[in-house]
Amino acid sequence: MEKLVIQGGYRLEGRIVASGAKNAALPILIATLLAPGEHRLANVPDLADISSTLSLLGRLGCPSLVAPTLRVDTTRITFCEAPYDIVSRMRASVLALGPLLARHGEAIVSMPGGCAIGTRPIDQHLKGLEALGCRFELTGGNIHGRTDGLVGAEIDLDMPTVGGTENILMAAVLAEGHSVIRNAAREPEIVDLANFLTTLGARISGAGTSEIEVEGVPRLTPASRPYRVMSDRIEVGTYLCAGAVTGGDVTVTQCDPRVMRSVLAKLSDAGATIETTDDSVRLVMEGPLRPFELTTEPHPGFPTDMQAQLCAVAAMAEGTSTINERIFENRFMHAAEMRRMGANITVTGNHATVRGTGKLSSATVMASDLRASAALVISALAADADIPADERGVSQMRHIHHLDRGYDDLVGKLRTLGGHVGRVADELDDLDALRAATEA
Ligand code: EPU
Repeated sequence: MEKLVIQGGYRLEGRIVASGAKNAALPILIATLLAPGEHRLANVPDLADISSTLSLLGRLGCPSLVAPTLRVDTTRITFCEAPYDIVSRMRASVLALGPLLARHGEAIVSMPGGCAIGTRPIDQHLKGLEALGCRFELTGGNIHGRTDGLVGAEIDLDMPTVGGTENILMAAVLAEGHSVIRNAAREPEIVDLANFLTTLGARISGAGTSEIEVEGVPRLTPASRPYRVMSDRIEVGTYLCAGAVTGGDVTVTQCDPRVMRSVLAKLSDAGATIETTDDSVRLVMEGPLRPFELTTEPHPGFPTDMQAQLCAVAAMAEGTSTINERIFENRFMHAAEMRRMGANITVTGNHATVRGTGKLSSATVMASDLRASAALVISALAADADIPADERGVSQMRHIHHLDRGYDDLVGKLRTLGGHVGRVADELDDLDALRAATEA
């Protein structure tokens, strides 16, 4: 087991390249199941969740090769079950339901339980797939789906669920006839999935709006050229927050600032100067951070996946910020750990009040979920900035497998920006950890 060690208080400065988006790469990899043959994908991030997805595809009979361009061979599906050990590691495995039913007529997926950030039901996925002609039964903790053939349907989602929209879309592309998904999620990752499906021969319009229309086709075929996965807007936003709390000057290249307007606007509210080009974004932080109000919403509103990171920014602001979490019911787990670093955060239900003092201090903390961990990294980078460098402590973060799920080369990227960050064996003592952190 390893831990992350961070000595804070250093200004982050420089340029890094964005990685491919986890939440686009996952459904796209699973969507390769729809078209028999060899698929090539570029810009797939190196993450634990991607390895889990490739294991899942492997279990279904679809081998893959990661380097140099990721290749997946979906010529044959020999097994149609996403087992508990993979689903429990990665909820997105439930996205295999739509493609397996559409291509194979049968799918067994272990029922995902609740997770750290909420109960996360999948009723909307099942409702949409049922409308397309699937039947489901729950046996032994598994969802067992069958269909004698999918037929297009009009589906009204109760809420714009990202995964639900993706699952239904992936099934509808091979259904006979016309489908409409209303109240669809509008996240950029849905657009990326739709673009990928279109390269396979799918007929989709309206992706990125709340009404997606699909004209089913009898079969899909892998594209001749590799598909390039979009860049990770949440990763980019995370590094910008790290720049903001350290009074830094951070540029992220090979990204799309148009899909992160709400995050950039919030960082501007907090006092940062933001400059964008077509494919890069720069944050310059001069002067103190200002408090702000934030409410998470489906895209194009402020993304829940950036809420924890902005909570760390609020803790370093001078004044009181308020944060409302409207997507998941339990997404303030970073608050308790951040309090150990001196943050003054009060959580009532889905509402947090952050009384920023402009300072945080180093501490040993525990990561609890992916974005909560990101907030702790940002806090640790800002910690002890008010004391001389040779007197600063070192923050240590345990359970960093959460970070490995979603941040490609986190330590390397932070070091490129001048962060004093290291990754060391859990048993190393503070002195070794400090050395690792300052050898950045
Ligand atoms: N919901 C239902 N029923 C459903 C589906 C969703 O009640 O059938 C509820 C959920 O419980 C939640 C809300 O609807 O309260 C939104 O959930 P959604 O389905 O949109 O989320 P998801 O597809 O499970 C994806 C991302 C999450 C991200 C959310 C919201 C992937 C693999 N995951 O999850 O990413 O937070 O959309 O944007 O795309 C992360 O990257 O850290 C992460 C958690």
